[in-house]
Amino acid sequence: MIESGFLSKDLIVESMVLFVVCGNEYTAYGDKHPNDEGILDFVPSVASKIDGSLKAFQALGVKKISITKMLAYGCYRKITSKVNYISCNASENARTILHNKLITDYVTAFKELHPDIEVMMLDFQQAFELSFQGHYDTDDLLLSDNLGFQR
Ligand SMILES: *[C@@H]1O[C@H](CO)[C@@H](O)[C@H](O)[C@H]1NC(C)=O
Repeated sequence: MIESGFLSKDLIVESMVLFVVCGNEYTAYGDKHPNDEGILDFVPSVASKIDGSLKAFQALGVKKISITKMLAYGCYRKITSKVNYISCNASENARTILHNKLITDYVTAFKELHPDIEVMMLDFQQAFELSFQGHYDTDDLLLSDNLGFQR
C-alpha cells in the first residue's frame, strides 16, 4: 500500500502499528503435531519472525509500535475445558513464558538499536492473570505496575 502510494510516508511516520500475536502459529503447529510435540523448540522460530516484522516496520519508516505479549496458553478454553474451566494449567504455560521472554529480549535489543522508534509492550499475560485472580476493576488494572503500555 505504501509502494502504490495509497499510504503516504508521512502518514506512516505519524501512525502507530498495533502488532497483535495471540498464538495462531501455535494452534496451526498443534494441528500438525499430536500433543504439541516439540512445541518449545518451535517457539524461537515464531519469536524470530516477530523480530523480522519489527525490522520490516522500521524499514517502512514506522516510528511507533505497540506489540502484545501472548496470554497464558494454559488458560485457553481448549486447555481449561479439561477441568471444567475452573483453573489454568501451569505446565501448558511454558510456551507463553518462553515466547514472551524471547520477544521481550528482541524488543529490548531493537529499542537499543533504534532509539528513535517507540516500542511499547502490551502485557496480555499479566492482564489475563490479574483478571483470573479477580482483579476486574479498571482501577486495579491501571494501578498495576506491569500492565498496559510499557516503554
Ligand atoms: C496439564 O498439562 C499437562 C501437560 O499437557 C498434562 O499432562 C496435565 O494432565 C494437565 N493437567 C490438567 C489438570 O489438566
